[in-house]
Order: sequence, then C-alpha cells, then structure tokens
Amino acid sequence: MATINDVAKKAGVSITTVSHVINDTRFVSNELREKVNQAIIDVGYYPNQLARGLRSGVTATIGLMIPDNSNPFFAEISKIIETVGFENGYSVILCNSSGDLKKEAAYIETLMSHQIDGIILISVNSTLENLNRIKERNIPFVVVDRDFPQYDGDTVLVNNELGGYLATKYLIDLGHKKIACIEGSSNVNPSSDRFKGYLRALEESNIPFNKQYLVRGDFEYQSGEGAFEELCSLKDRPTAIFACNDMMAIGALRKAKSLKVHIPEDISLIGFDNISFASAVSPALTTVGQPIQELSRQAISILINKIQNRDDVQPAKKILLDPELVIRESCLPQN
Ligand code: RIB
Repeated sequence: MATINDVAKKAGVSITTVSHVINDTRFVSNELREKVNQAIIDVGYYPNQLARGLRSGVTATIGLMIPDNSNPFFAEISKIIETVGFENGYSVILCNSSGDLKKEAAYIETLMSHQIDGIILISVNSTLENLNRIKERNIPFVVVDRDFPQYDGDTVLVNNELGGYLATKYLIDLGHKKIACIEGSSNVNPSSDRFKGYLRALEESNIPFNKQYLVRGDFEYQSGEGAFEELCSLKDRPTAIFACNDMMAIGALRKAKSLKVHIPEDISLIGFDNISFASAVSPALTTVGQPIQELSRQAISILINKIQNRDDVQPAKKILLDPELVIRESCLPQN
C-alpha cells in the first residue's frame, strides 16, 4: 500500500511538505500543492482520516443513528442528511440499531472511537442510558423524531399528538364511530403520543374508547398484518383503522386482500409518515404526512452549527414541526 514516503519521492518534496498539503497546516505554493496532489493520485495514497482527526481533533464525519434502515421513513431521512452533510464537507456514517438498545450502545462506542465530530440520534426508545453515553463525551449531537423525558437539549420533533388527532378526527368526520388504533413499538414516544391524539379526538366527539380496538404493533410491516387480522376477527369489527405508521398500514392492506376484506369499502384505513410507497399501493394510502425534508434539514443544520461553534455556549434549539393530513383513496364515509 502506498505511503506518504512514496508521495514525497514521486513529487520530489519532503514528507513534511506532503503532510502540510494533506492537513492544510501551513502555506504551500500552488505549484508544489498541485505536484503533491498529482503524486497522491499517481501512487494511489489514501491519507489515514482517523490519524488525521487525532492530530487535528476534526475528522469531518457525522454519525447518524437510526432504528430501522429497512423503513423508508428512516431511509428518506438518511438520504437528505447524507446529501446536506456531504455538501457541507462532512462524511456521514449511518448506524442501524435495529431497534436494539445494546446495538445502539455499541455503535455509539464505535462512533466515539472514530473521533466523530457530531451525532444525529434517532433513538431506539426514550431510555436515557445511551443518550448519556454521548453527553458524557461532550460530543455535539441533536435528538430527532424520538424525544427523551425532561430532555433540555437540541431536538427536532414532529407534533405526534396532533397527528394522531388529525387522523382520528378525519375518520370521525367521515361518520365512523368504531375506530381502531394499531400502535407502534412500545415505549417509543411518537407512537404513544399519536395514541393520545386518537383518544383526544374520540373524547371530543363523545365516542367511548373500546379497549378491543387498540392493538399493539412494532412499526414493521408484519405487525400490521397480524393486527389487522386480530381486528377483523372481532365480533364487533371496527369500520375504520388508524395505524401509527405507514409500514403497518401497508401490512394491513396486504392482509385485507388475503382475507377478502375490501379497503376502503368494508374498512377505512389511515396511516402515518407519508413514505414514498404510501402513494404507490392500491388503494393509495390516506395518511398523516411527516415533514421529512424539513425535519432532516433542520437536524443537519443545527448539528453542523454546533460542531462549527462548539466552543460557544448556545441556547438549545427545540424545533416542533406540524404534520398534515394527506387524503388519498383508503378511506370512505361510513354510511
Ligand atoms: O415508521 C417509523 C416510525 O418511527 C415513524 O413514525 C417515526 O416517527 C419513528 O418514530
């Protein structure tokens, strides 16, 4: 493997000069700089980014922690954050915790060992254990999508209670009273907040909450299939279902087809997230749209600002974005 020595020989300069060009630590004339850069390409030398970071304290890398890279919601967030990060000179390292706190902890240690400049954390759930691992190292970070109790740092969140309310209110306004809710992963606050919004809409319209109409999923496709089957097996079947994310709603759609239950004629169905597939399934899914673009851009912008001004004490930025109803084909009035 080519070394810095090979570059110096090829360019006809000292190793010190090559190092100053790579690390931009001293003025080097354009003529010499071009010779060194060409020699780097000719010999195929790749500077050790981590070693460089250890010297300068900056590796121009950001960690992005997500709970499930197979969910388009997180994939869409990752794409925007990576694109904006790269445009600003940062490489983004994607860590998929697979909903496992121990794996999330392991990735936090890995990111720390790579002298990461900052982290965007979409956590497995709201336990403070892993959040404190990051805080202890004094690494700039931003909490996104999933909040922590009494957390006073930088956050970019969506008003999930309002989203649950909008979904349920929409179904009530269509005349539905037998409305079920498929909740997402337990102790994940976006799901519990959406359920609170569902309850608020029912209460506001004096519709009693039927415990049989609450089924727990895990935000994944298969749990939507099982939840739908459970709800269809009820003697007093619901006429409408609010699924706390689109992946579970799409699972419900698939199960409906195999059970020969017609959506929306027999049961209306509404999701949450507005992932790209929501408009591609049949019937196209009515859902609650999360402002994924805005959420992602705010998160990366706040983090880069924190990294580049890490010696300044700045008040925490707490962004709360509103979701919006996206009406498509999967809901009908209850006659
Ligand atoms: O679809 C995954 C869900 O988990 C989204 O609703 C998002 O808010 C995350 O918390």
